[in-house]
Amino acid sequence: MKELLNPDFDSISHSAKSLLLTKALTTIPFAKEAANLIWGENSMQYGKKRLSSIGFLLRLIHFEDRYRSVDKALTEFGIKNIVEFSSGFSFRGLSMCKDPEICYIDTDLPQIIETKKVIVKELTKRFCKYPTENLFQQALNVLDEDAFAEIINRFSTGAFAIVNEGLLIYLNERQKRKLCLIIHNLLSERGGYWITADIYIKKGIQHGITKNFYDERGKKFLAEHHVEENKFENFEAAKAFFKNCGFNIFKKIETPRSELSSIKLLEKIPRFKLKELKGRKKIRETWILETNKS
Ligand SMILES: C[S@@+](CC[C@H](N)C(=O)[O-])C[C@H]1O[C@@H](n2cnc3c(N)ncnc32)[C@H](O)[C@@H]1O
Repeated sequence: MKELLNPDFDSISHSAKSLLLTKALTTIPFAKEAANLIWGENSMQYGKKRLSSIGFLLRLIHFEDRYRSVDKALTEFGIKNIVEFSSGFSFRGLSMCKDPEICYIDTDLPQIIETKKVIVKELTKRFCKYPTENLFQQALNVLDEDAFAEIINRFSTGAFAIVNEGLLIYLNERQKRKLCLIIHNLLSERGGYWITADIYIKKGIQHGITKNFYDERGKKFLAEHHVEENKFENFEAAKAFFKNCGFNIFKKIETPRSELSSIKLLEKIPRFKLKELKGRKKIRETWILETNKS
């Protein structure tokens, strides 16, 4: 039987939508255009109304940083065969396929990918002045090993990169291990890397100013999906977890703050408040993982 992440994954899809509305305030490719397409021009009001909240701004910066870090890893590598899983309403594939040498397979659960196909078709028609035949959209439950292998087989020979952001925090330890095993098998066979922006660690004591990172609805959603419990204890524990699953850290990726369009939004926040942010501990990293050959 194929294992689903959660019978309630519809509500995760809701989170993907709210992510898009947040990212629409950044220069992330197609975020604004897609939000407008789905919810109309007024969609920008969702985020604009929240811009005076430092918690919301930090969330915005956090998600832009996560998105850009994956782009940065891909650009540094120059790998042309890319599969993204659980991509939600993120349009990295549509942007990256501008390079005709890239073969991008964009995946998520069936109902998301079906909706996304309609959006991508419209975005392509309205905004892309380049061919997009090298972008493929395919349904994939990542915990289905055969389906995952079939997708990888669509690439012609050679190394490939598997990328993801925003899924591991919804997986419990057993599911994470299963996913690691699937990816390990795929990478061992063909060679390549797993770029994951999902190295989240538990927050511990919350810093006062950031406790409003999420609104009440967001907090309820995170609690229902056990997001805090699913995070790693700390970065060392995450490293040990992946090592135990047969992965080494090939490289950690950092996005320079100057590359984040949302940073400028902090200018409106009083200096004394910004000072409070100094010394906040890191809660997430992006890692490029390789299989441990030994
Ligand atoms: C929080 S969203 C992140 C979306 C996107 N990566 C982003 O950062 O904007 C989580 C996504 O994981 C997808 N998802 C949940 N369970 C999955 C599974 N078992 N296999 C593949 N995708 C899954 C959901 O459909 C949703 O689009």
